[in-house]
Amino acid sequence: MYRLSSIVYVLLVGAGLSAQTPHGASLTIACEDCHNTGGWEFIGEGARFAHDNVGFELKLSHLEADCKSCHSTLVFDEAESSCISCHDDMHSMSVGDDCIRCHDERNWLVDNIPELHEINGFPLLGQHRLISCSECHLSESNLRWDWIGSDCTTCHIEDYHATSAPNHIQLGFSLECVECHSPASQSWGVTESFHLFFPLEGKHDINDCAACHLGESYSNASPECVSCHEDDFFATTSPNHLALNFGTDCTMCHIGDSWGQANFNLHDDLYFPIFSGKHEGEWDTCTDCHLGGNFTSFSCIDCHEHNDQQDLTNEHDGEDDFVYESEACFFCHPTGEED
Ligand code: HEC
Ligand code: HEC
Ligand code: HEC
Ligand code: HEC
Ligand code: HEC
Ligand code: HEC
Ligand code: HEC
Ligand code: HEC
Ligand code: HEC
Ligand code: HEC
Ligand code: HEC
Ligand code: HEC
Ligand code: HEC
Repeated sequence: MYRLSSIVYVLLVGAGLSAQTPHGASLTIACEDCHNTGGWEFIGEGARFAHDNVGFELKLSHLEADCKSCHSTLVFDEAESSCISCHDDMHSMSVGDDCIRCHDERNWLVDNIPELHEINGFPLLGQHRLISCSECHLSESNLRWDWIGSDCTTCHIEDYHATSAPNHIQLGFSLECVECHSPASQSWGVTESFHLFFPLEGKHDINDCAACHLGESYSNASPECVSCHEDDFFATTSPNHLALNFGTDCTMCHIGDSWGQANFNLHDDLYFPIFSGKHEGEWDTCTDCHLGGNFTSFSCIDCHEHNDQQDLTNEHDGEDDFVYESEACFFCHPTGEED
């Protein structure tokens, strides 16, 4: 190699040919790294020159490209490395000049369209996945992607104005469509969470909107239980709410999914402590005292069976008015305590 380079050097200097280099003055790589005595062709395979070291790695299709297709002047450092300096921006600057956001050197096909939409905060789901690009990208050329904006109203405001069932404008529905509609859906049916202002769960998980929304309008329903369940209230017998003077704020006592599940802490103040005091945790169902579910009567002795009549009578030795009757127990023990 030493010999070869000497020969080339001799050739060049000796023949006074150094002025003939087409590569400009700044090239510091030795001629023989790329040429041999065979001529001024680039020696290709056997070349010692490695392009990776010059700050622009040749990848994929670029590896196949001829040196001169990028270095037409042969003054190598005149080449610029940004993609756009050699390739036409087919998108008329609608997506910027950072081509490698979407392309690499393999070919110009783009296979990450779904990801691109995700990155832009607009994943293509539901109906949006099925329609053609041009239904949303309305630019004159199908290689332009001018900024649209991903708010539903950008593309659907006319649909909103045209609604009739229900008429969104009349009802003052929000322009935040996602409160009630999902972009992952193929229709304008509402999402499950849309009815958060009155959750349609449990016994209210009713598909028939008209069960609660009578007539055309959706805004005439009240969330007050009694507005829909007044008849049920009047019809109660066990216990008879009207006779007991129960209020119509049902949520005071009804919490669960059925009328049988009552949260009846008021019992302690109104009648007899069962959620506090000595009887807290000592009973299983209301019928332990209200035999047969009859709330207007109660029994103490059916439960105090462990102390039988004789025992109790002995316990109450000296209590002249003692009788073995529930009404009497309650009379002397109105809070279920000893005194
Ligand atoms: C990094 C590699 C490289 C180095 C170093 C290099 N050349 Fe070249 N040279 C080339 C390539 C590539 C061509 C174009 C070959 C072709 O036409 O296919 C070329 C072509 C030439 C040509 C022919 C020009 C033409 O118009 O066809 C001459 C003369 C030449 N080089 C001289 C030199 C001299 C003198 C040096 C050393 C001072 C040198 N080269 C260093 C790569 C190199
Ligand atoms: C796909 C385009 C492309 C091809 C093909 C290509 N180059 Fe380059 N080359 C570049 C770019 C871009 C640079 C970086 C220029 C810069 O940043 O100064 C460069 C830099 C160079 C440099 C360093 C210039 C300097 O002084 O900094 C040399 C030498 C060079 N190329 C030689 C070659 C040779 C020889 C071939 C053929 C084997 C070749 N190139 C093929 C694009 C290419
Ligand atoms: C210095 C010029 C130059 C630069 C810089 C350059 N390329 Fe190239 N590129 C070429 C040349 C020359 C070819 C081969 C000829 C052709 O197909 O256009 C090519 C080919 C390609 C191809 C293959 C085209 C096809 O039809 O198969 C792709 C893709 C490509 N380049 C992408 C890029 C990307 C992405 C960048 C930026 C990272 C880039 N190029 C930077 C010059 C360049
Ligand atoms: C936001 C993504 C994105 C960016 C950034 C982008 N492109 Fe594209 N480009 C595409 C898509 C998508 C296509 C269509 C590809 C397909 O049909 O598979 C395309 C196609 C192309 C084509 C082929 C056109 C044809 O007629 O088939 C070229 C060339 C191209 N782009 C060049 C560029 C250049 C140069 C840049 C940088 C200036 C660039 N692109 C930036 C997404 C992008
Ligand atoms: C339902 C509407 C819709 C459909 C269909 C759609 N897009 Fe988009 N696209 C958007 C929205 C919205 C954006 C986010 C950027 C914006 O607001 O402009 C976007 C972003 C893009 C971007 C990225 C722009 C950037 O700078 O990052 C490209 C590229 C793109 N779309 C190409 C396509 C192609 C190709 C198709 C067909 C396969 C397609 N789109 C289908 C609405 C859509
Ligand atoms: C870039 C425009 C664009 C944006 C932004 C957009 N859509 Fe769409 N959407 C369309 C197009 C175009 C269709 C298909 C034509 C049509 O049905 O209107 C569609 C269809 C739909 C459909 C199916 C309707 C049906 O019955 O066919 C629903 C639901 C939908 N979009 C919801 C949304 C929601 C929710 C948002 C906001 C998160 C949204 N869209 C944002 C363009 C858009
Ligand atoms: C408060 C909840 C709510 C909001 C917010 C809402 N909608 Fe609706 N939308 C509904 C309900 C409820 C229906 C009827 C669904 C059904 O019939 O299953 C409906 C139906 C629709 C329909 C089909 C009915 C018709 O008459 O055409 C379209 C179109 C529609 N909405 C568009 C929109 C758009 C666009 C937005 C946002 C700009 C939006 N909606 C916001 C609740 C809402
Ligand atoms: C179990 C009873 C019930 C059912 C079933 C029901 N809703 Fe409602 N809905 C209500 C109540 C109660 C309100 C009022 C909530 C409030 O004002 O706090 C309401 C409010 C609404 C509103 C908001 C009206 C406004 O002016 O803000 C819309 C829209 C609505 N319902 C749509 C529907 C649709 C569509 C269905 C069928 C899928 C449905 N509802 C089923 C009880 C129900
Ligand atoms: C807008 C009307 C509406 C409102 C407000 C309403 N409901 Fe209902 N509710 C219904 C409808 C309709 C049904 C199903 C038909 C039926 O059983 O009466 C139902 C069923 C029930 C059931 C089941 C009844 C059974 O027989 O199994 C219970 C329990 C119930 N609601 C409790 C309540 C409570 C507690 C409230 C207040 C927090 C309430 N509801 C508010 C309309 C309403
Ligand atoms: C002060 C407490 C209280 C209030 C307020 C109350 N309830 Fe009740 N309700 C009860 C209790 C206790 C039961 C019996 C639960 C059991 O069987 O375990 C009951 C049972 C019921 C039953 C089933 C029993 C029967 O005879 O049909 C219905 C229906 C009912 N309530 C409806 C209502 C309605 C509607 C409201 C509001 C308008 C309401 N309640 C308000 C305490 C209350
Ligand atoms: C440990 C015994 C005991 C248990 C358990 C009990 N109660 Fe009572 N309850 C009483 C007593 C004692 C009275 C008071 C009767 C009076 O004031 O005349 C009463 C009164 C009532 C009354 C008023 C009846 C009237 O005619 O005034 C209702 C309604 C009632 N209870 C419902 C319930 C419900 C619902 C449960 C289950 C959650 C329950 N009770 C569990 C002992 C009990
Ligand atoms: C479900 C069964 C049950 C029923 C029904 C019941 N009790 Fe009791 N009672 C108990 C148990 C168990 C104790 C013992 C609790 C303790 O020692 O803490 C008790 C304790 C008492 C005590 C003694 C408290 C003390 O301070 O030692 C009195 C008094 C009492 N009950 C009265 C009543 C009266 C009055 C009734 C009817 C209104 C009644 N009980 C109904 C189970 C019941
Ligand atoms: C005339 C009033 C009176 C009547 C009726 C009465 N008690 Fe008592 N009871 C008392 C008094 C006073 C004591 C406290 C006695 C003592 O400590 O010597 C007591 C004590 C008790 C004790 C606590 C005994 C102990 O040693 O822990 C229980 C349990 C009890 N009564 C249950 C009942 C039951 C059940 C009835 C109904 C069958 C009843 N009582 C009827 C007045 C009465």
